[in-house]
Amino acid sequence: MAIVESRLPGWPTLSLHVLNPLRLGSAFALDGISYHNYSWKLHNDAEPFVAAAHGPARATITMNAVEIEAAVSALALEPFDAAEFPFAFLAAFGNKETTIKRLRKGESNASDVPGGVLQRNNIHLAVCESGVVGETLKALRTNPKTVSAKAKFVLATDGETLEAEDLTSGETITSDYRDFARHFGFFLPLAGISTIKEIKDNPIDVRATGRLNKLYIELLKDNPEWATEARRHDMNHFMARLIFCFFAEDTDIFNGASLFTKTVEQMSARDSSNTHEVVGAVFRAMNTKIADRAAAKLPSWADGFPYVNGGLFSGSTDVPRFSRMTRTYLLHAGGLSWREINPDIFGSMIQAVAEDEERGALGMHYTSVPNILKVLNPLFLDDLRAQLQAAGGNARVLLNLRKRMARIRVFDPACGSGNFLVIAYKQMRAIEAEINRRRGEPGLSSEIPLTNFRGIELRDFPAEIARLALVIAEFQCDVLYLGQMEALAEFLPLDAMNWITCGNALELDWLGVCPSTGSGVKLVSDDLFQTPLDQVEIDFENEGGETYICGNPPYLGFTWQSAEQKADIRTLLKGRTASSGFLDYVAGWFIKAADYGTRTNCVAAFVSTNSICQGQSVSILWPAVFETGYDIRFAYTSFKWSNLASNKAGVTVVIVGIGLPTSAPRRLYLHDEQNGVLVREGASITPYLTLGPRIVVQKRDQPLSALSVMEFGNKPSDGGHLLLQSEELASLGLDVAQRNRFIRRIYGSDDFINGGSRLCVWIEDCHLEEAQFIDSLKARIEAVRQVRLASPDKGANALAKRAHQLKLMRIGTQSCIVVPSVSSERRHYLPAGLVDHRTTLTNLAFGLYDAPLWNLALIASRIHLVWIATVCGKLESRYRYSNTLGWNTFPVPTLTDQNKADLTRCAEDILLAREAHFPATIADLYDPENMPENLRHAHERNDEVLERIYIGRRFRNDTERLEKLFELYTKMTAAQPASNRKRKTLA
Ligand SMILES: C[S@@+](CC[C@H](N)C(=O)[O-])C[C@H]1O[C@@H](n2cnc3c(N)ncnc32)[C@H](O)[C@@H]1O
Repeated sequence: MAIVESRLPGWPTLSLHVLNPLRLGSAFALDGISYHNYSWKLHNDAEPFVAAAHGPARATITMNAVEIEAAVSALALEPFDAAEFPFAFLAAFGNKETTIKRLRKGESNASDVPGGVLQRNNIHLAVCESGVVGETLKALRTNPKTVSAKAKFVLATDGETLEAEDLTSGETITSDYRDFARHFGFFLPLAGISTIKEIKDNPIDVRATGRLNKLYIELLKDNPEWATEARRHDMNHFMARLIFCFFAEDTDIFNGASLFTKTVEQMSARDSSNTHEVVGAVFRAMNTKIADRAAAKLPSWADGFPYVNGGLFSGSTDVPRFSRMTRTYLLHAGGLSWREINPDIFGSMIQAVAEDEERGALGMHYTSVPNILKVLNPLFLDDLRAQLQAAGGNARVLLNLRKRMARIRVFDPACGSGNFLVIAYKQMRAIEAEINRRRGEPGLSSEIPLTNFRGIELRDFPAEIARLALVIAEFQCDVLYLGQMEALAEFLPLDAMNWITCGNALELDWLGVCPSTGSGVKLVSDDLFQTPLDQVEIDFENEGGETYICGNPPYLGFTWQSAEQKADIRTLLKGRTASSGFLDYVAGWFIKAADYGTRTNCVAAFVSTNSICQGQSVSILWPAVFETGYDIRFAYTSFKWSNLASNKAGVTVVIVGIGLPTSAPRRLYLHDEQNGVLVREGASITPYLTLGPRIVVQKRDQPLSALSVMEFGNKPSDGGHLLLQSEELASLGLDVAQRNRFIRRIYGSDDFINGGSRLCVWIEDCHLEEAQFIDSLKARIEAVRQVRLASPDKGANALAKRAHQLKLMRIGTQSCIVVPSVSSERRHYLPAGLVDHRTTLTNLAFGLYDAPLWNLALIASRIHLVWIATVCGKLESRYRYSNTLGWNTFPVPTLTDQNKADLTRCAEDILLAREAHFPATIADLYDPENMPENLRHAHERNDEVLERIYIGRRFRNDTERLEKLFELYTKMTAAQPASNRKRKTLA
């Protein structure tokens, strides 16, 4: 028994039978406590407890990689100004004017080196006398201030040479001052952008994207009609042609270095008036076979261009008009060295050029090659490499492998600018080249047809770029493995076939893009819902070969899907599940791939939001996939899908590979804490991405285990008239006895976690008459009645009869265990707690009314959080609790009386540990970075006790926890199916 003494005038001293609810930071709080003798005081409610203090916001740098490249290039072109350089350099990396001002004044410059500027946590740079750059860099590196200010870089320059060092990696650069912009990728961490290796080594992709971006924007300004929907395709096609020309003139595909750029520069007037005519003539030449040139009446200077066509230069050769500025931008873009362009990276970046809403983030949505390989390696590349290794020098086995590869199709049905296809192609060419080397045929032409790399893409511009990217990749591979001459000999004219279909992948028949293997039929992709698309028929070189489907389709939660997208999913699932629920859009690609697999054998792997392997999505999507006969072959469990923008949180994704069942073990790839990858093998993978049987957790009305019943809190349906803030209490004019009778504290998720202080009017039927005599209560009851009567909902109208009450009137007679329905995913434990009999819940929390305290030990355990995170799914990224899906399905071994006593003690210890930190809120206490030691310890102890009940020791990790839970769930549900709704007896 606990005694709670009020400090609020008018509140009584209470005797509580149970531990205080410990809603720290709210009205009930502990003043002095001993473990066996609780004596508490009510705390003054009117003083809100301040939530966690946050540190001062860090100044953020908002420039993206493309903008930084442009700024650094501009700086390198300016005459060197020794005094100004350090500040101009920092400004180019996105430092704000105010930051620069403070450095300039010396207020924040921590350097003691002459000519030096030291920006804390960033860089120590200095301008020095001519010829002493090396010594100055050394002085900066060894300077104690560099260390104490935690500089990440040192840089020294004399205006002729520039040297710098990344102090974290030890990497250094030395450059002519004029060329230092080429190393801008090295310095990107200064702008908070963690650079991926490809960009650092080869910044051309960012520079090219920046140049084309400017050109695109300005051309559209000068030619607004090209920005209309009707001409969008022409504009995109025009940009693809330009990119081809820039690449071709730098790689000897055109006869003469910089032929295109020079032609435009020399033949078009400086005032730009005829630039479009010159470019148009060049395009026409590339669309005219050499034999037809005379008849085409091309200007002689255009005759030097080869016949290219292949669809790229066919159709209208209309060109937008140029201004002086856009002509200059065109020449600037041509001035870059396009030879080193990475078709995978560049394609991904350049696609943003044509997207109005994406353009601002240009260069930031690049998907790294290692991440793409996480899909392609387990899908089929690992197997090819293993075969290559096993073949050793055996010419016949190597030949068979080469033949096998020539019949492999790779199909990305959401291909964007084709990066998955390009990387798959390049990787296969590398394997083929190794085969040829071992067979003593190093210069042999490739047998891998580019047309076996296919895609569907919704948007026009990326679809254009995807095809171009593959063409460029093929040429670069030919140069690498066969030599420049051979590459050139094979390159032109381009193949007229189109491997990238522009359309909606969820509507198109995939057999139209990738016909059944062995059919050898020419097929045109059918649009199953709309008019046929304008497509070139494609023959296939894959007779009897394998098909691998891959990609990174769009993830769109239900609320972000358009009506058409929702309809796509509904159509796909029609007749296969009761409802398509809130499935993410990406789920459609899994269904389509499995359906496609019933017609032609394939293995498919997609990157996906992890939501399709959590919560209710599992029971909607996966049974439909399994029904086709397809199974999960391999999977990567959740990880962050990072891109170039380290200042943008990546989404959490999984990779799931599906195919027909085989005898080969299933592989599960997991990231360890050091971001290494562990591979585990088993006979099958669950749709929750654990090793184990293919079970799908179904909602239950009653707990599967012998646990107390968990119910929703009380939906007010009151228009706000039964709820009040504690400071409104006085206005009701109630005496102490009336407050005791008619007022209760009420919590939803948010106020339980963050320390809110709401109250509610609580009138039992037996006290209604008395309440009606109190004016303030009577008025509130009447207001609720009006709200309910006015509601369009019939249920609400019926409730008007008991307008004195919330829709439900659940409250513990002694206590209630509270479980917030939504809570942050950052916490290590679910923020459950206990409230007394004078406290009730809204429908935004669940309650176990008068339940034994050991139930709280279960809910507050790590193993329960892992179960909830997996089977209940998330609301955005937060945990979404469900009693029917999470609590009623939670598998718990039979608990002995001793187990229950031990767990009760653990729950009490957790509550007491919280109390020791009054007035901290639950949010404060469970801040993962600042969780108090005693509370952490109490939870550890709780986990220890509970996990010993499960397996006799602590689990090694969450994966082991989940696997045990699924194993137990499978056993328990086999013995007691979901339809068994009988209430279990509680000890
Ligand atoms: C996440 S991006 C991936 C693209 C590319 N693989 C990459 O990494 O940049 C998804 C792509 O799917 C395309 N897409 C969206 N809905 C589509 C649909 N219904 N059919 C085909 N493609 C679609 C988008 O335009 C986008 O290019």
